[in-house]
Amino acid sequence: MLMCGIMGYVGPQSIAEVLLGGLKRLEYRGYDSAGIALGTARGIHLAKRAGPLRVLEDEVARNPPPPASIGIGHTRWATHGGVTDQNAHPHLDCEGRIAVVHNGIIENAAALREELSARGHVLRSETDSELIAHLLEEAEGDLLHRLQAVAGRCEGAYALLAFDLRDGNHMCAVRRTSPIAIGYTDSEVFVASGAIALAPWLSRCIYLDDGEIADLWPGRVDVFRLEDLAPVRKVGHEISDSGDLPDSGHHRNFYVKELFEQPAAWRSVMRGRLGDADAVDLTDAGLTEGALRSVKRVQFLAMGSSLHASQMATERLLEFAQIPAAADLASEFRDTRSFLEPGTLAVAVSQSGETIDTLTALRHAQSLGARVLGLVNAPGSTIARESDFVFDLRAGTEISVASTKAFTTQAVALDLLVSALAAAHGRGYDPDHLAALRAAPIIAEDFLAEFLLPDDLVERCAKAPGVIFLGRGQDVSLAREGSLKLKELSYIWSEAFAAGELKHGPLALVDDRVPVIVCSTDPRHTTKLSSSLSEAVARGAYGVSVGADLRGTLHIGLPIQDATAAYLIGALPLQLLAVTVAEARGCSVDQPRNLAKSVTVE
Ligand code: M6R
Repeated sequence: MLMCGIMGYVGPQSIAEVLLGGLKRLEYRGYDSAGIALGTARGIHLAKRAGPLRVLEDEVARNPPPPASIGIGHTRWATHGGVTDQNAHPHLDCEGRIAVVHNGIIENAAALREELSARGHVLRSETDSELIAHLLEEAEGDLLHRLQAVAGRCEGAYALLAFDLRDGNHMCAVRRTSPIAIGYTDSEVFVASGAIALAPWLSRCIYLDDGEIADLWPGRVDVFRLEDLAPVRKVGHEISDSGDLPDSGHHRNFYVKELFEQPAAWRSVMRGRLGDADAVDLTDAGLTEGALRSVKRVQFLAMGSSLHASQMATERLLEFAQIPAAADLASEFRDTRSFLEPGTLAVAVSQSGETIDTLTALRHAQSLGARVLGLVNAPGSTIARESDFVFDLRAGTEISVASTKAFTTQAVALDLLVSALAAAHGRGYDPDHLAALRAAPIIAEDFLAEFLLPDDLVERCAKAPGVIFLGRGQDVSLAREGSLKLKELSYIWSEAFAAGELKHGPLALVDDRVPVIVCSTDPRHTTKLSSSLSEAVARGAYGVSVGADLRGTLHIGLPIQDATAAYLIGALPLQLLAVTVAEARGCSVDQPRNLAKSVTVE
């Protein structure tokens, strides 16, 4: 399963309440069914339902489970098998004494299924995950040894959590790629796929690393290397989230709340790094002057919005810092790069810090000799833990699946990095540029307080067969981000191109039903962008310019001249356009169909 939520608990509190409470905190990551399994004196009590968590909560309220002292729960994002009650986790073995939840994908599931069926196991679901319960049933020894043996038989990526009614009041968890956080008190133990789910009960946790297995008892957690069960000492991490349930406050959804939080998030990422002096200090990330000076090239690795922010930074490194740089889709990097030049700093940019494509690319970059800077919004995340340097984004938790504040805050952070690298390489700081960054939050606040999206634009986009975004230079990445937001939220087909590409093919898509939105936040490209927009308008397009007035059908002005800050402010109307069109079309804003917040399987 991809991007699922795991929660487990052993202790004296109401097991169902703790499990449902933890799963609720993981809900925003996206899922399509949920379930819990409780160990009771009468056997395992199972409740599983397709649909939102509230369907399961209603079921548990209607049929209260018997008293229990151990339990595991799960929110599932379907991959193997449809969205049904039966395919929801937890899964049990034939005898119904072992319960398992799983995040990830077992790649040799077909072969295992055949084997298990041939040996007479009764498989009740179409999932790869159920196979693990049956493999555990066959394995020998205590639960820890059995889980170790079963993990050895599974190919692919996983986080597994299991308990066995005959094995005492404990659970075992194993990790290969998908995250697991664990915490305990004197009389309890908790485990979840993200620390946010533990926050109501704990202030600290440990994270399993790849190739580790844990034995979880109330008041005690033992972690071992999976290969030989050698004990591993773990370091505790603070859980930074409050235990409160995420709340969108007076905003109509988390997306809009987070969109309006952007100025605060930019201030937060600059605090202590960009003060009044015209210099940037990134020593909190370990990036001393010496470390920056040793960087000869930069290789960004990221996906989605994080890639767009990285593409903007690449432009600036090449142009202003004159440092060779590239931004690759992390998912392609491993397959296409067999070398990195000496002195390469790989920068893994990820809001969640758990995106598997980015994590895999990070490891590949390390294997090619690069040092890695992790730029994450979750300092305890796997990417942060595996990076040589960690740049904490400090944007605050982002709940909406579609990124807003993380994207623009990454742009601010990367701009600080570009400035620091340029200075360390003898190019000095640009005081106007730094002043523009400092001023950006207040300008954004004013803009957000006053800006009204033209109804005509929303209506045109809402019924368009497709929307084209164009840009040049840094605006190519802004156009890509505008297009990604629109497609994620409103399900409207949309594509972004470098404006120079238009006449080489995409112009054939343009007619009077297709809005063409040109991002123009860098004054150096105004003339050429204006020509592109004219070409589209001449073919009947509803032509919109964002930034400079390119004399199309509609102009959205930005209250700023400096290209750096205009990039940030330019993202705001695009983000607002996406949500307004989505709402006009009745789409689910915070949890778009088919998407999940944290993509933890390739
Ligand atoms: O957590 P990450 O920044 O690594 O996530 C990368 C992408 O999955 C993410 O940006 C995705 O494209 C968002 N839904 C964009 O809104």
